[in-house]
Amino acid sequence: MPSPWIVQWAGLVPAGETVLDIAAGGGRHSRLFAGRGHKVTAIDRDVSALTSLADIEAVQADLEDGSPWPLSGRTFGAVVVTNYLHRPLFASLLDMLGPGGVLLYETFMEGNERFGRPSNPEFLLKDGELLELARGRLSVTAYEARLISEPKMAMVQRIAARKL
Ligand SMILES: C[S@@+](CC[C@H](N)C(=O)[O-])C[C@H]1O[C@@H](n2cnc3c(N)ncnc32)[C@H](O)[C@@H]1O
Repeated sequence: MPSPWIVQWAGLVPAGETVLDIAAGGGRHSRLFAGRGHKVTAIDRDVSALTSLADIEAVQADLEDGSPWPLSGRTFGAVVVTNYLHRPLFASLLDMLGPGGVLLYETFMEGNERFGRPSNPEFLLKDGELLELARGRLSVTAYEARLISEPKMAMVQRIAARKL
């Protein structure tokens, strides 16, 4: 099931725009956007669940091993990241957005350790961290930092924002 946050704000991405799904996993958001008619590129170190998906460009890459960004020179109408955090990628995420491009980002934040994993601060956003990422670079449409109960109890932070 796609994240309700991504479903809620998917309509911010104009028709016909390309979408990059980072650390796409099983491709739940790749499929969501492909179903809405977007051309989708999905990147993950494990693309076994992605290569069979129709109309989705699957790119296999390790995003944390220091190798050159695999999609350099390309920009997208939207970048989607869920349940994944690797802070050194933050600058690249914004570079991947074309003018007016939309960032939809949702992942766990500090406080989540009360409910289980992830509990390592390396994988938990700090209070306000997505707002800090957006400051001066993105216009924020929506932001939340809250407890959710579905699909399990978790502290999440999430943003929907457009490149200035
Ligand atoms: C918790 S899953 C989230 C998947 C998807 N975004 C979602 O919400 O359904 C984290 C994903 O990050 C990917 N990942 C973890 N480390 C990675 C790395 N170094 N390079 C590329 N992908 C990585 C994993 O393969 C996995 O698919």
